[in-house]
Amino acid sequence: VKLIIFLIIAYFMGSIPTGVVIGKKFKGIDIREHGSKNTGATNAYRVLGKQYGIIVLLADALKGYLPVFLAHLAGINGWQLILVGLVTIVGHTLSMFLKFKGGKGVATSLGVFLYLVPNIVLILVAVFILIAFSTKYVSLASVSAAGLFPILVLFMPVKPELGKWNMFGFALIIALFVIFKHRSNIQRLLHGNENKFGAKK
Ligand code: G3P
Repeated sequence: VKLIIFLIIAYFMGSIPTGVVIGKKFKGIDIREHGSKNTGATNAYRVLGKQYGIIVLLADALKGYLPVFLAHLAGINGWQLILVGLVTIVGHTLSMFLKFKGGKGVATSLGVFLYLVPNIVLILVAVFILIAFSTKYVSLASVSAAGLFPILVLFMPVKPELGKWNMFGFALIIALFVIFKHRSNIQRLLHGNENKFGAKK
């Protein structure tokens, strides 16, 4: 029963469409109608401005972090804790408030994994920043970090109570999921017409 309650909380929290809400509330703009049409921090930055991008990034990461943090406090651990994280990320990408559409899962995953495997996230964030700033393609940074994630889980220490193979399975699913959500970005990258970060349209 406890697990089910936390799964509902996770889905609900993940579902909160921060980018859409913040855009509408503060600027009267629905970011799903502009830029890449994504609900994430990158598009919030692009459409609404820098400070809004940062707020959406923090809000999405926080809503990823909180459910696993609270579930762990309540004594949930191992594969059940991983499931709470998975449902949060699924909630973000298939939001109940957005007719089961949503974001690409990068910032929310950041929050979830910052709690579960902070050592690995530190490396992924460094790789992400390096690629994002050197190429100006946020999507390329997201896809690269996602691809590297399961590999790092294999080779780096993971809290024993989570279970290395549980965590590896989780990382693999999320990596494939995030890459899949970026399929239009990958098409644009291959064709050389992906949006560059900071470039005004
Ligand atoms: O996290 C999403 C980012 O990787 C790409 O965002 O808006 O350029 O599709 P966007």
